[in-house]
Amino acid sequence: MSNDIMKAGVIGHPIKHSKSPLIHNYWIRRYDVNASYEAIDIAPEELEQRIRALVKDGFKGFNVTIPHKQSIMEVCDEVDEIAQKVGAVNTVIVSEDGKLRGTNTDVFGFIENLKEAERQFGYSWNIAHGSALVLGAGGAARAVVKGLIDAGAPEIYVANRTFGKADQLRDLDRAKVKPIPWEEREEVLGNINLVVNTTALGMDGQPELEMNLSGTHEDAVVCDIVYAPLYTQLLKDARAHDLRIVTGIGMLLHQARPAFDAWFDVWPDLSEDLEDLVL
Ligand code: ATR
Repeated sequence: MSNDIMKAGVIGHPIKHSKSPLIHNYWIRRYDVNASYEAIDIAPEELEQRIRALVKDGFKGFNVTIPHKQSIMEVCDEVDEIAQKVGAVNTVIVSEDGKLRGTNTDVFGFIENLKEAERQFGYSWNIAHGSALVLGAGGAARAVVKGLIDAGAPEIYVANRTFGKADQLRDLDRAKVKPIPWEEREEVLGNINLVVNTTALGMDGQPELEMNLSGTHEDAVVCDIVYAPLYTQLLKDARAHDLRIVTGIGMLLHQARPAFDAWFDVWPDLSEDLEDLVL
């Protein structure tokens, strides 16, 4: 038996704002796993060479963040179907023989967060009950739309400032994904079961998302994937309209779980302590 410490980390550039070390090191302590998890700054031009060195050094895998989520796909030996659909890899798993498998756990994180909301709401609400409205069409929106399709949302409107990018999301499901102009985002609200903000709007240091929720169906749920601040203006407005809300912290925490399990063979649970630590 080997006493070697298992190694993993998060790679990005810059990397100091990443919350991943807090999350994984919390679980390493809580589950008493003989492992380390570190933040590793890798400049784009050094990506492949540094990755090869980490693998040689015995790394079990790593999380991947900006700006490497697409370029890492070239370095992977295999990219699974979900990461290919999302068009980004956020987790790499190194196999025993040193092969790199890229996956994307954001889809799981987003859907698991909503499933927890379903349970909390006593199943009076369900993702598949009706149409969704997704605000934004960037990388995060792709994971969200893919998750909604897989979870059975019957129709997904995508409103984005740059219409062409919303239109590109149709390649995920031409029947379900319906791009609409940004200016028309409030017009569909009467017919919507779920609203999700995936834009940067509302994040600390960014302008607020302007959205008049007064026409929203009373059973709708409003979700923001922004978690800093936790209660964005969108969520405050939703509460003022007596709508149920889902905050973004759950997606961040849930997306880390399959990675921890893949590297260290422990399926970690969420806890309030962990939320407090990360917020
Ligand atoms: P991420 O990976 O977090 O999704 P991204 O790919 O840069 O980041 O996408 C950012 C999203 O926020 C996009 O949908 C962007 O709209 P555009 O595609 O038109 O750029 C949206 N966004 C950013 N600033 C915005 C603003 N001021 N008004 C409306 N949408 C905005």
